[in-house]
Amino acid sequence: MECGDKRTRETMTDMTLPGDGFRLDGRVAIVTGASSGLGAAVARALAAVGARVAIVARREDRLAALAKEIDGLAVGADLLEADQVDTVVPRVAAELGGPQILVNAAGNIFSQARAEDESADALARTLALNLVAPFRLSQQAFPHMREAGRGSIVHISSISGLVGIGSIPQASYAASKAGLSGLTSELAVQWARHRIRVNTVAPGFFRSEITGDLFDTESGQKWLHRNTPLPDDATPEDIVGAVLWLAGDAARFVTGQTIAVDGGWTAR
Ligand SMILES: NC(=O)c1ccc[n+]([C@@H]2O[C@H](COP(=O)([O-])OP(=O)(O)OC[C@H]3O[C@@H](n4cnc5c(N)ncnc54)[C@H](OP(=O)(O)O)[C@@H]3O)[C@@H](O)[C@H]2O)c1
Repeated sequence: MECGDKRTRETMTDMTLPGDGFRLDGRVAIVTGASSGLGAAVARALAAVGARVAIVARREDRLAALAKEIDGLAVGADLLEADQVDTVVPRVAAELGGPQILVNAAGNIFSQARAEDESADALARTLALNLVAPFRLSQQAFPHMREAGRGSIVHISSISGLVGIGSIPQASYAASKAGLSGLTSELAVQWARHRIRVNTVAPGFFRSEITGDLFDTESGQKWLHRNTPLPDDATPEDIVGAVLWLAGDAARFVTGQTIAVDGGWTAR
């Protein structure tokens, strides 16, 4: 193979084997929503490939147990409270070093009323936790990533941000998750010159504390299987691979994307 110019030669010298692109040795990562479900699974996966992981949520007993297991840093914070959101990155930077990876997995549904009946309070809380907190944390991680010359931000959205679900009403949740996709493409373009990549993973329904009822009832099972081409029930581990890929150099040419990991739900 010919290496025409200097830039090509440098790029080739920098090339790593595919497997190495999934290693995160020594990089500091922040994972919100890590006291259960997907966030906890992501924290374990990032630690397993060498990252030093700060885990964020409200249930401090759970955080302490996971921090012990992965030798991470537990950061208790209610991400509905702006002043608590603003403590997260400074604390992590002081105790572990500046973050180069941020995974915004904390999220919740505050209303399952029909759209015409959703309260203004539910809408405001949903946007505060699912959209505003990820934006604030991204802003605060930015100077650390810029200084390091690289960074990866992964938001956890939902297929609800891509398509209507309807039979489980969730208009404010859908709006908040769709907002993450807009935030993703704009931050990706603004911050690309610093090699800070910003992407979103949009899961389909997977088993967790917020979906237990759905997976454990016959009608829920029937509904899931009717709408999901792949036949298996999803768990957090089915979503983690995409997050791990986006976090590291294996995805170093991927930014601004919303990637559905949904068993084919949105492909129908
Ligand atoms: N499960 C699904 O089918 C599904 C589908 C699509 C998208 N998602 C998204 O995936 C993400 C993870 O959800 P999951 O299913 O794994 O649910 P989960 O097990 O209930 O996890 C939600 C996490 O968010 C944290 N959290 C909630 N409110 C918080 C607050 N005010 N401040 C700080 N942390 C808060 C929770 O911790 P504490 O309670 O300890 O604070 C918990 O760690 C969410 O963004 C969700 O919208 C889930």
